[in-house]
Amino acid sequence: MMNYAGQMLRDEALANKVVVVTGGGSGLGKSMTRYFLQLGAKVAITSRNLDKLEGTAQELSEETGGTCLPLACDVRHVDQVESMHQQVLDTFGKVDILINNAAGNFIAPTERLSSNAFDTILDIVLKGTKNCTLTFGKHWIKTKQKNTTVLNIVTTYAFTGSGYVVPSACAKAGVLAMTRSLAVEWAKYGMRFNAIAPGPFPTKGAWDRLLPAPIKKKFDPKKRIPLGRVGDHQELANLAAYMISDFGAYLNGEVITLDGGEWLKGAGQFNNLEQVTNTMWNVLELAIRRKK
Ligand code: HXC
Ligand code: NAP
Repeated sequence: MMNYAGQMLRDEALANKVVVVTGGGSGLGKSMTRYFLQLGAKVAITSRNLDKLEGTAQELSEETGGTCLPLACDVRHVDQVESMHQQVLDTFGKVDILINNAAGNFIAPTERLSSNAFDTILDIVLKGTKNCTLTFGKHWIKTKQKNTTVLNIVTTYAFTGSGYVVPSACAKAGVLAMTRSLAVEWAKYGMRFNAIAPGPFPTKGAWDRLLPAPIKKKFDPKKRIPLGRVGDHQELANLAAYMISDFGAYLNGEVITLDGGEWLKGAGQFNNLEQVTNTMWNVLELAIRRKK
């Protein structure tokens, strides 16, 4: 049966594509990688923890029959990014698609952050994305390889801003600006740049740092979402696969929000009137109609 947790694209949609997914050993990066492998891509997954990457690569290769290459790379260090890029070229002969998915984040009142804490998030999210994008992009320009694409995973507070995750909000806003800027500047080299802004998708990495046990019940994300549920990983994988595939060839400079309506609910002035019951509406309507 077809539903939102089903696979959307035809089986060979990413055949002959080589994809690099930063932060691909866990969470959403792992779920995207699984689907890209199922669609015929070869995928390199990279992050700091090689043991974790090797476990994921083995699990996903066995599950999908695809080729998954684990590579240690801290995106904060451009020398490590360049060496990771070279290893992908040595192994697969080319790379077509970069997914900037690696991130660091935690909730904290901003006045509690040291300068280094703020920098750490900027370094992983904004500078890490810059390190990968510049390395891959310059190579594509130099080799005149066309039909390449970069997909950046941002957040909805990249455009609204948000308290208590201020370094992440600043960094993701920068990544969004990079996405839109290069979508125009580097289109002439045959590159497309797009972004996804996910709402809450349960992952250990995000939940441990953004929804720790003591506040989990009170701040249940489901309560904020008009559609009444969190996202399913396959929904995000489906969107990502479409955006990087040749079916998405005309999509450039776009950020697609996948959040069940969450951020708009927070923005609309009267949206909290959903708490008013039908009986109460009867009383309110009479009172309002009486005011001539
Ligand atoms: C205040 C903190 C802190 C906290 C760390 N620091 N945690 N400050 N409150 N809870 C400070 C440290 O004291 C240190 O500053 C500085 O931050 C760097 O910390 P390290 O532990 O040395 O850094 P590092 O080992 O590089 O780890 C980076 C990390 C960690 C970001 C702190 O959490 C991490 O590895 N995260 C990766 C995975 C992740 O975050 N995934 C979630 C993505 S979710 P000082 O001054 O003491 O040296 C996401 C989406 C959000 O992005 C949207 C959801 C809807
Ligand atoms: P996650 O599993 O913690 O993913 C983050 C990944 O980044 C990890 O695999 C981590 O691996 C890697 N990473 C962290 N620092 C790195 C560094 N310096 N160099 C290289 N890799 C590094 O969390 P997730 O929820 O799947 O997040 C994935 C993406 O989705 C992030 O961009 C996040 O901002 C975005 N997002 C998630 C949600 C959500 O609800 N889950 C919502 C909005 C946006 P190592 O620890 O091995 O390095």
